[in-house]
Amino acid sequence: MQQEAIQEITQAPTLEALQQVKTKYVGKSGLVTKELGALGKLPPEERKARGAEINAVRQAIDAALQEREGILKRAALDEKLASEAIDVTLPGLPLPAGGLHPITRVYDDLIGIYQRMGYEVVEGPEVEGEHHNFEALNIPWYHPARDLQDTFWLEDGRLLRTHTSNMQIRYMVEHDPPLKMVSRGKVYRYEATDATHESMFHQLEGLVVGEGISMADLKGTIAEMARGLYGPTAQVRFQPSYYPFVEPGADFAVYWNNPRGESKWLELGGCGMVHPNVFRAVDDLREAAGRDRIYEGMTGFAFGLGPERIAMLKYKIPDIRYFYANDPRVIGQFRGEL
Ligand code: PHE
Repeated sequence: MQQEAIQEITQAPTLEALQQVKTKYVGKSGLVTKELGALGKLPPEERKARGAEINAVRQAIDAALQEREGILKRAALDEKLASEAIDVTLPGLPLPAGGLHPITRVYDDLIGIYQRMGYEVVEGPEVEGEHHNFEALNIPWYHPARDLQDTFWLEDGRLLRTHTSNMQIRYMVEHDPPLKMVSRGKVYRYEATDATHESMFHQLEGLVVGEGISMADLKGTIAEMARGLYGPTAQVRFQPSYYPFVEPGADFAVYWNNPRGESKWLELGGCGMVHPNVFRAVDDLREAAGRDRIYEGMTGFAFGLGPERIAMLKYKIPDIRYFYANDPRVIGQFRGEL
């Protein structure tokens, strides 16, 4: 019996199997236990020798059980450690990286160009008064130009600014000339949307005021911006245009050769020499705020342009509405690029 038991013990493949062998031999009704129980029925002279014999078997079995249990427990532990081991040489999981929105990137390019030319960068309110958005910019209520910029009116008589030109007024009220500033931000138009029109879009406004500022300075500045955007061969074109707050006024376009060898005129925005009525309106606001009237007689130029147009061409985005639809198929392309 001892030999059989020890063979079964040493061959038990698992701790569960070993437990069964243990029960079979030394459990409550195990084979060895039964033999011990049967001792009482033996004649007293045989009992001692038989008892010693069975005890020896039992001790051998216990020892074998203990040894096998140790082996199996170690094996189980080894297996667990191996399965839970951390491979520190594995590459990490990729972190979901964000990225800058294409409009932000175009703004960064533009603003970098103007900062290198010494412009101050400011931002202003999107909710604006009628005076700053229209009146002070030489657009009285009866002016037909108001129809060109259909307006979102708020219940309190204020509005969502239709252009960033409100910042010309705000900046001049606060600052004395000479000055150079650019202002970026959102603007709103109450219009039907299509591939090139959105009811919310962005503008970059520029304003330079001082003595003896001329149209030549304006053209040189726009040309410098075009070279900053599209390289040293970029050209600019000015066409007469009309905006109530400038005189003369112009629209400007940039001719550029893109990396695929295509060249085209890109209509970028409007510009012109600041209208005397704008300087007068600014002086009126300054006077009301207890400041000197100092803009009358000054010269200056202003320009406004839309980064969406630049971004659509640069990143081949065919529809302006894609910028703000939060579709990951569009925005996801700019992941991780800063
Ligand atoms: N504010 C004008 C627009 O939104 C653009 C512009 C700005 C034109 C400055 C001239 C000077 O259309």
